[in-house]
Amino acid sequence: MKARINGITLAYSDRGTGLPIVFLHAFPLSRTMWATQEEALSRQFRIITIDLRGHGESDAPLWRYTLDQSADDVSALLNHLAIQQALFVGLSMGGYILFAFYRRYADRVKGLVLADTRAQADTEEGKEGRFQMAQTAYKKGPSAIADVMIPKLLSPATIHTKPDLVRQVRSIIEGNQISGIAGDLMAMAERPDSVPLLEQIACPALIIVGELDQATPPSDAKLMADQIRAARLAIIPHAAHLSNLEQPERFNQITADFASEFTKKT
Ligand code: MLT
Repeated sequence: MKARINGITLAYSDRGTGLPIVFLHAFPLSRTMWATQEEALSRQFRIITIDLRGHGESDAPLWRYTLDQSADDVSALLNHLAIQQALFVGLSMGGYILFAFYRRYADRVKGLVLADTRAQADTEEGKEGRFQMAQTAYKKGPSAIADVMIPKLLSPATIHTKPDLVRQVRSIIEGNQISGIAGDLMAMAERPDSVPLLEQIACPALIIVGELDQATPPSDAKLMADQIRAARLAIIPHAAHLSNLEQPERFNQITADFASEFTKKT
């Protein structure tokens, strides 16, 4: 499905009925990374997955990107779908966008699932890495970005034993445009420190992390779980950064259990 949002076309899927759960994908992927979650969880809930600006089937304008702008896109899409409040799931960059969203639209958030993400801003070294990666994207294209990213996203065991999954991740990355990839890198480099926000988060939060995640390791997840008032932590064994793809059943179960608590309350 497509909608005209904030001057661009955004692609999204909307499946199932009941409590709306909005899924925000990682860098440099697209909403197709949530296919298994959409399939399983739409039996119980209304699952909305979005191709963020710059990704998948959404427009990728050659212009400035910010995480606040992505948060505004999500809010405008919810208006388009007549959804006032939802549960939000963000993995990695999706989590960074959820911090921006919470700053701007806390009243729309029933609960947060922060998966394989972190509250801290980039270090100077991290920003330099983003700059270099943007140059690689510009000069060599998305397949060079897939080469760099796949070892950061998936565990060595997954890379060696699940070639279909590796191919799937590669093809999602290669489906993105250079303008979107470079735009994201600039947006992530400029994002503020969200650690001070953590103690202001008043809604229930579930923090998920793959035990082998090196991009946003369990120590980052523990920091969020310690500082958000109503947070709990789930560490997924045998998963690295893309824990929803490496251990989908576990990820879906933890998320469904958390979401079910909201339906019991209403
Ligand atoms: C992601 O998975 O979204 C990225 O690894 C986030 C990042 O590069 O900080």
